[in-house]
Parts: sequence; structure tokens; C-alpha cells
Amino acid sequence: MAELLYQGKTKEMWTTDDPEVLRAVYKDDATALDGLKHDVFQNKGELDAEISSLVFEYLMKHGVKTHFIKRLSKNEQLVKKVKMIDLEVVTRNIAAGSFCKRYGLKEEGEKLDTPVEELFMKSDALHDPLMNESDAIAFHLLTHEEHEQIWEISRQVNQLLTKLFADAGMLLVDFKVEFGTLPNGEVVLADEFSPDNCRLWDMETKDHMDKDVYRRQIGNLIDVYERVLARLKDALAKE
Ligand code: C5P
Repeated sequence: MAELLYQGKTKEMWTTDDPEVLRAVYKDDATALDGLKHDVFQNKGELDAEISSLVFEYLMKHGVKTHFIKRLSKNEQLVKKVKMIDLEVVTRNIAAGSFCKRYGLKEEGEKLDTPVEELFMKSDALHDPLMNESDAIAFHLLTHEEHEQIWEISRQVNQLLTKLFADAGMLLVDFKVEFGTLPNGEVVLADEFSPDNCRLWDMETKDHMDKDVYRRQIGNLIDVYERVLARLKDALAKE
């Protein structure tokens, strides 16, 4: 009997007959403001699952190690069971969001001279505080070697996806990824990659094509995610 292992804000993780494999179910929920804002959008789970599956397949084709096995149905994936590293790993190419707030930048959009790499503790109660490597190691969230590996993979992801989204007419402004370790200790990319956890701006108009349309109430989330998916499919077809 499948057992619900984890109930997240936007995903459920279920056991399967294989103890090394889990089933991820993408839900139609959208949340923001540390879970205080919550809505349900029909088809959102399918869109996130499809976009994330395409992105993970593309990354794996280019040598990135991930937990992904395959898309199982419209809103379900099979993934390798990993021990999650309890950190949000953010890379920024362009100043936006909390980066601008923290450093008092009045406008978003400045291209950063080097990608900025940030770790955040996963805690709604504490509003996901910023952490450095020694904080994370002191809290036993990861080891120095795992810290090196998460940034090595994040840099690979940034390079590959900046190009892929550019081919799809979008700027990859920033993104949050999560990692896990396999039973042999290897660090792999886990969780998802969708417009829920990255910022994508239209290359020409700089229109927002990600969850900021929901967070800031500046557009229709489903329309925007459908456009991201269509552009991504076009770009992948030209690969
Ligand atoms: O809010 P902030 O500017 O720190 O977000 C940076 C990136 O991380 C954005 O792409 C955002 O979508 C993502 N993020 C996330 N989950 C969070 C916080 C941020 O996916 N809890």
C-alpha cells in the first residue's frame, strides 16, 4: 500500500513498491508570503509537473545528476528517494525580489556582474533567513563537501538553463533549487524547477512570466505558465 511520506504546500510524496523510488504528486495549490497567501488554480499541478519534467530531462541530457526518473501521468513523477538537504539554494543573475529589498535597491533589473549565490533556511516561522556556509554546517544541514557539490551543480544548472530560456525568449533572472543525497552519498538535484521557483522575464518586454504574477497580483498565473510551457517546448524542439 502506498503511504503518504510528505505533504508539502504544492506537492505530495508517496511511497511505491520500490523502496528506492517515490511518486511525486503536483497539486494545484499556489502559495506565497510564507504560506499566508493560498489559492488553487485548476491545471497548475499539471503545468508545473510538465515544465519541471522537461527541464529535468534537459538537464540530465546535459550531464546534471538529478533525482528524476520519469513523468508518470499529467501531474505525477517517479523520482529516486533521496535524503533532502534542508536548504533553499538560490542563484541570481539579475537583481530582483528579496535581493533588492535587502540591499535597498529601488528598482529590479540590474544585471549582476557575477551570479550571486545564497542559501536560505527553510522556515516559514522565521521567514526563511539567509544563511552562509558555516551557518549551514553548524546546523548540520550539510557538510563542506556537500556545500561544494550543491554549488557546482547549481552553476551547471544556471549555465544550461540561462541558455535554454534565452532560446525560449526569456531571461532567467533567478531561481531556487533543492538537493538531496542518494544512499551512496552522492548529491543530486531534487524537488522541481518550474515558474513557481524561478523568475523568468520576457526578453523584449521584461514582462513577468513566473509566480510573481500571483505574488504581486499582476496577471493570470495559468495563462503565463501555459506560455512558458509553449515557449519551452518550441526551444527544446530546436535543440
Ligand atoms: O524572494 P527571493 O527574491 O529571495 O526569491 C529568489 C528566487 O527563489 C525566486 O526565483 C523565487 O521564486 C525563489 N523562491 C522559492 N521559494 C521560496 C523563496 C524564493 O522558490 N521560499
